[in-house]
Amino acid sequence: MARAIELSAQGYPAPNPHVGCVILGPDGSTVGEGWHEYAGGPHAEVMALRAAGDRARGGTACVTLEPCNHQGRTGPCSQALLQAGVRRVLIAVRDPNPQAAGGAEALERAGVEVVSGVFSSEAEQINFRWLTAVRRKSAWVALKLAQTADGFVARSDGTSKWITTEESRRYARLLRATMGSVLVGRRTVEADDPLLTARDPDVRNEPHRWVLDPNRRVGPGFQIWGGDLPATRIVKLPVQGENELGVPDRSDGTLDLGAFTVEIFHRGHTGVLVEGGAATVSQFLSQGIGDELHLFTGSVSFGSGIRALPDGWSEGWQRVEERLISSDLYQLWRPVQEMGEPSSALRSQYKQGRTVRKHLLSPTNQPTNQPRPVSSALRAGPFSVWTSVSD
Ligand SMILES: NC(=O)c1ccc[n+]([C@@H]2O[C@H](COP(=O)([O-])OP(=O)(O)OC[C@H]3O[C@@H](n4cnc5c(N)ncnc54)[C@H](OP(=O)(O)O)[C@@H]3O)[C@@H](O)[C@H]2O)c1
Repeated sequence: MARAIELSAQGYPAPNPHVGCVILGPDGSTVGEGWHEYAGGPHAEVMALRAAGDRARGGTACVTLEPCNHQGRTGPCSQALLQAGVRRVLIAVRDPNPQAAGGAEALERAGVEVVSGVFSSEAEQINFRWLTAVRRKSAWVALKLAQTADGFVARSDGTSKWITTEESRRYARLLRATMGSVLVGRRTVEADDPLLTARDPDVRNEPHRWVLDPNRRVGPGFQIWGGDLPATRIVKLPVQGENELGVPDRSDGTLDLGAFTVEIFHRGHTGVLVEGGAATVSQFLSQGIGDELHLFTGSVSFGSGIRALPDGWSEGWQRVEERLISSDLYQLWRPVQEMGEPSSALRSQYKQGRTVRKHLLSPTNQPTNQPRPVSSALRAGPFSVWTSVSD
């Protein structure tokens, strides 16, 4: 199971969970390995069973998340395990998603021995964004800003290009893929005309794009509305056209961002990266909506401009990571009230990350289908975000 957990950290499966699977033959030797690389791609069990072939018969499957029991874009994994003749299934975490759960019972009904809760806390740490979202039924919200050394996100005239280095910007683009969707305020679209894609060779699925534009001020002709990738305008109710998501407003006239995170969860989005601008991030902070904040501080100074964060913003937040990315200072912050579980998760996931790297480098332990190494500091899957405390 430890190996299955390591494998699960591969890829960018959002909005799906990270899942890893190891198949052991009847003699206990590893005959197949797999992980869920991208949404719509093969599930970990299917990948591992393909590698194992007939050697899975009579063997054991170690899976980090309960095998699915439903027909989604791919078939039910519980059936695939049964067809392969697996006799025993070890599961780390039971699936809290009612649509996919039931795999353990289906396997047991068919006479397979099922053991749940194996290495469950370690497996939860890899997936805790997804698990949190599914359990509370609202998307995980990651806030992200790049600021100058003197605390501005842009000059007042909107000329803000490249506060941080290319290395930080790639990290931030991979965060888009990690969360599976990206949101910006309408003034950012008007000022920067961004694409908001990950555009990275490691990423198969581009994130969904959201524009917070309650009064439909952003005209046509911006890049975000072009091309084949979907983008949705978040508006005040009622919705008037296609590609709009209506969100109720609050007594002060601003949109209820908590309602937005619930609504997108029910549309299948388990995470969102809120990339600014400052007014939008400020709105999320003041409405108390945010599970983590990624703050990049570059070495340039503007002297004046649009302030990145409001005074006193960090009350209720705790810095859990700080390091240099190239010449930029990178900080990860988390809300204090939620630190209980994630902070211990953070510590042990950090330890886990070191084990993964050692394991992947070990010449005596070559997996049957070798995953790409996860050691690059720029891998932005949840795993490396949480494992880079002092790397
Ligand atoms: N350095 C960075 O990390 C970074 C990132 C992004 C952008 N930027 C820069 O930041 C500047 C734009 O930022 P900005 O702070 O001026 O604006 P912004 O956050 O991009 O957009 C603000 C607008 O979004 C809408 N909005 C935000 N929260 C809302 C809520 N709760 N309910 C309803 N509407 C909401 C409002 O639109 P209405 O006015 O229509 O109501 C608001 O005026 C640009 O110059 C851009 O280059 C920098």
